[in-house]
Amino acid sequence: MSKEKKPLRSSRSYGPKDKDGFIHRSWMKSQGLPQDAFDGRPVIGICNTWSELTPCNAGLRDVADYVKRGVWEAGGVPLEFPAMSLGETQMRPTAMLFRNLLAMEVEESIRANPIDAVVLLGGCDKTTPGQLMGAASVDLPTLVVSTGPMLNGKFRGRDIGSGTDVWKFSEDVRAGKLSLNEFMAAESGMSRTPGTCMTMGSASTMACMMEAMGLALPFNATTPAVDAQRRRIAHESGRLIVQMARNDVRLSKILTRSAFENAIRVLSAIGGSTNAVIHLLAFAGRLGIPLELAEFDRLSADVPLLVDLQPSGRFLMEDLHYAGGLPAVLKELAPLLDVTAPTVRGEPLGASFAAAECYNRDVIRTIAEPANPVSGIWVLKGNLCPNGAVVKPSAASPSLFSHRGRAVVFESIEDLRTRIDDPGLNVTEQSVLVLKGCGPKGYPGMPEVGNMPLPRKLLERGMRDMLRISDARMSGTAFGTVVLHVAPEAEAGGPLALVQDGDEILFDGPKRQLELLVAPEELAVRAEAWRKRRPVPKYSRGYYSLYVQHVLQADKGCDLDFLTGASGSTVERESH
Ligand code: FES
Repeated sequence: MSKEKKPLRSSRSYGPKDKDGFIHRSWMKSQGLPQDAFDGRPVIGICNTWSELTPCNAGLRDVADYVKRGVWEAGGVPLEFPAMSLGETQMRPTAMLFRNLLAMEVEESIRANPIDAVVLLGGCDKTTPGQLMGAASVDLPTLVVSTGPMLNGKFRGRDIGSGTDVWKFSEDVRAGKLSLNEFMAAESGMSRTPGTCMTMGSASTMACMMEAMGLALPFNATTPAVDAQRRRIAHESGRLIVQMARNDVRLSKILTRSAFENAIRVLSAIGGSTNAVIHLLAFAGRLGIPLELAEFDRLSADVPLLVDLQPSGRFLMEDLHYAGGLPAVLKELAPLLDVTAPTVRGEPLGASFAAAECYNRDVIRTIAEPANPVSGIWVLKGNLCPNGAVVKPSAASPSLFSHRGRAVVFESIEDLRTRIDDPGLNVTEQSVLVLKGCGPKGYPGMPEVGNMPLPRKLLERGMRDMLRISDARMSGTAFGTVVLHVAPEAEAGGPLALVQDGDEILFDGPKRQLELLVAPEELAVRAEAWRKRRPVPKYSRGYYSLYVQHVLQADKGCDLDFLTGASGSTVERESH
């Protein structure tokens, strides 16, 4: 007995031969759509975060055109729509503040419009997660096409990496090793083409997550933005989404618990950004999949670093692509993955990399001879972070994996910038830099300032890393022995708020410990004093106010509390 197919969602708007159908069709015909565009063809939304204010996503207009070709060719109707674009390098106070706003916009745009499936076009750090969070709460068939990374940066005859080398050059200038003129000259060489940061920063990490979770075609993550293969991927994705709409392959059928476990293991193998921890927790919250922060540590503990890319290693995304791309990494990692996990192509994940080959073992290592046996995400516990904190050990200094030192406390990022280079700052090589007020509520938006600059006087003595602790995030392109995402944050009354200059702090990475070595009685006195001087809320209107009142802490993914879960794709009422 043949199973009857469900009518397409769009047919409720475009099918009826009545006043409402007239209204829905007639205005669309003003764009030149023929009558047969409304005769039961899948309508595909193309959610585009193109913007000149998001230079990383500036190639997405071109990509959208190639998705449209594929959609038309497969018998669908493509309709492109814009979504708020989040330029990581341009937005203040931080693009992360607006990830959830993008997610709300995407969710309601998809739900309110008569579309049957959606292709998400994003790339720059927060665009991919914001779009996917929104799409997850509607749960239509969904496919991701990424911007793709820039070509490698070039400066003085060598490759330089987005972000990673900015931090290095900046510290070299402060240490007197690089002139300001040379520093300025590196600017033009770093960003040579459209595309996302070509280090394994947050954008490349999230693109790899999309591919590893089965939501994008093979090589979507690594193909350079300017390579013709990017257009082919877009074209094929256009064809595929029409098929997915016809077969009702919803996002929730792809994003299973296995997809998350695979993603966490891949995150470790690629030395991916700590930001992915927050985004994956937020996705899971939208989909109702139980996922705890501690599982990032457990699932990544036996996964070494296979990909030798900056900031954890040497190479860049272009090199990874030529070495075999993510499929070659997945093939090496296959014994640790659930290869039966579903993908948008309808085949299991294992089939998507079965034919993959590695062409450069310097870039993609083997499990037997990894780039670094230590990788993954360490999830810390202790009285300084009751709900957790994270460290990326592959980007940290082994000499600091276990460290005990006295705190040098900065109450805000402004306080840090004012005093960090003060010759009178009471800081030594053993000190621990502590930064407060940079969590989701405190900044607001949890900026990427956790890799705080080192004091100039220590840089001049040749020091290049120190233990640093904060409730902030860190750019995926950054490195150092940096404890991030301390939860609860200082602004929410977490113990981080109670740390004072000179307090002793114990960090034991291998034991996952972070302790403030101050007597409980003294901490209780400080907590009472903190409650009494607690400042009044800084924001009384608009999105900032909504965000600060409702944002969840880092260990829960920083979504807004009322956005977790899903509302589905059904809209009962007509507009006229
Ligand atoms: Fe956009 Fe790095 S700043 S991807």
